[in-house]
Amino acid sequence: MPNDQHQYDVLVIGSGASGLSLALQIAEYADVAVLSKAALSEGATLYAQGGISAVLDVYDTIDSHVEDTLKAGAGLCNQEIVRFVVEQGRESIQWLIDIGVNFTKNPIPNGHEYHLHQEGGHSHRRIIHAADSTGKEIENTLEGLVRVHPRISLFDHHTAVDLITAAKLGLTDNRCLGAYVYDQKHDKVKVFRARFTVLATGGAGKVYLYTSNPDICTGDGIAIACRAGCRVANMEFIQFHPTCLYHPEAKSFLLSEALRGEGAKLRLPDGQSFLDKYDSREELAPRDIVARAIDQEMKRLGTDCIFLDISHRPKDFIIDHFPTIYARCLQYGFDLTAGPVPVVPAAHYTCGGVLIDRNGLTDISGLYAIGEVSCSGLHGANRMASNSLLECVVFAHSAFLHIRDQLSEVPPPPPLPDWDESQVTDSDEEVVVSHNWDEIRRFMWDYVSIVRTTKRLERAKHRIRLLQAEITDYYRNFRITNNLIELRNIALVSALIIESALLRKESRGLHFNTEYPMTSDPATAKDTILNWSVQSKQNY
Ligand code: FAD
Ligand code: SIN
Repeated sequence: MPNDQHQYDVLVIGSGASGLSLALQIAEYADVAVLSKAALSEGATLYAQGGISAVLDVYDTIDSHVEDTLKAGAGLCNQEIVRFVVEQGRESIQWLIDIGVNFTKNPIPNGHEYHLHQEGGHSHRRIIHAADSTGKEIENTLEGLVRVHPRISLFDHHTAVDLITAAKLGLTDNRCLGAYVYDQKHDKVKVFRARFTVLATGGAGKVYLYTSNPDICTGDGIAIACRAGCRVANMEFIQFHPTCLYHPEAKSFLLSEALRGEGAKLRLPDGQSFLDKYDSREELAPRDIVARAIDQEMKRLGTDCIFLDISHRPKDFIIDHFPTIYARCLQYGFDLTAGPVPVVPAAHYTCGGVLIDRNGLTDISGLYAIGEVSCSGLHGANRMASNSLLECVVFAHSAFLHIRDQLSEVPPPPPLPDWDESQVTDSDEEVVVSHNWDEIRRFMWDYVSIVRTTKRLERAKHRIRLLQAEITDYYRNFRITNNLIELRNIALVSALIIESALLRKESRGLHFNTEYPMTSDPATAKDTILNWSVQSKQNY
């Protein structure tokens, strides 16, 4: 085998909650490689705050969690998938507890051993959490276990570039055979061959100028799957979290919705609360409603931010429940216990993604997508808070079962062609890459964010077409770098968001177009499904 070809049973691309949960389970049966684009722990999971939703309280019910999820999803959730996920909530939490995740306990057990938060859209307290850094507790626990597992090999700072499929090699049966992977430390592209490949690459918040997401969230898995011929769905539904810290150096640090669950109020600069004008659930309305209300008030008043105020709660309570948020705010000069802090909405979660079935299987055999990269049908037009970590764990488990049951049937892939660098040279104009990065993120924020118009979407489509042509040309001529791989991906993901937004001739959930302000008849509600390999030939 050539030097830079690796062979595994299962290739997991991504080391967040979804990727590591799957790796840990399948490694009992198979040899596994896990790739991460940065340090192993870096990803959205590490920064998750509020917690994971599940029916744990004796007074809560599966039906209620299902109903809340469907309501937040504004008519586009797949009802069977919602029930499938919700029914696995308790078991998934138990699995996390069994592997060592330490959730915050109830000081006085009151219906349940663990303390439960409440967040927007939930009609009960059902968010189990580890204070306000739930993701860190989960990620660190998983990382500790995969690091010592004898059948798991970890490759940090390795960026998947594209999949290698049988179709690309001219074979008839379209199966995923592995991936081309850029090794950042050694500046070269390797081939990873695998019987099964799993995309667990997270979301695409970095497409926008302001985002709660870490830098790795460039939608790589969505772009990679799309280029390989998978369908993607519902990309217009980008969730904007209502409350990110407004400070030039805070990089849209999130102020958890759990604060509002514990009584925090949103206030205008003059101290007035305002959400009662928009929804009877006020601070606990779903995120689409709260973010749009904030956007409208900020535009009406011409202000740069509004304010979040929990200072009426006892100081000890705030510090105890929200130690990370309290410390981070103090770092920027805001004392959560003493008064309101300035907040703005920012891009937070990609509800759409690679279309999968209940096993996490995509359109290509041997290729799975789990976690935020996927569109499973759980979130519909708007994800309910804390349902995503649950989705990661549930789909990691169902994909694990599906892969395990085929391990004896699927042979290793044949030798695969090496990465061809014969036509490219080193770039002498890296500035093109950084300039295009900035331009995309800025016009996506200006033209394709919380409130959309067809005119602005058309303008964005025009820009992205030009930029994609320029980026494709650059990609064909120059050696790849991590920045270039990501730029090519954010450009494609932006095109998918714009095209999906233009196709939806109504407002629903997170997608609001002023020209189509009404939601169409529920009977006609449908997903936006793109088959880019066909559509791009017509459009882009
Ligand atoms: P991630 O955790 O984002 O991991 C993606 C992985 O893929 C990383 O390891 C990355 O390096 C790797 N990767 C990406 N591209 C490539 C590539 N090309 N090659 C190789 N590797 C690649 N959800 C909740 O349910 N509850 C919460 O309380 C909550 N709070 C949140 C707070 C914040 C600030 C944010 C940003 C999100 C929050 N969410 C929350 C959402 C939730 O955290 C994410 O949806 C979830 O963690 C996604 O997990 P994942 O495994 O799909 O991806
Ligand atoms: C939060 O804690 O507000 C984030 C929860 C989520 O995104 O699900």
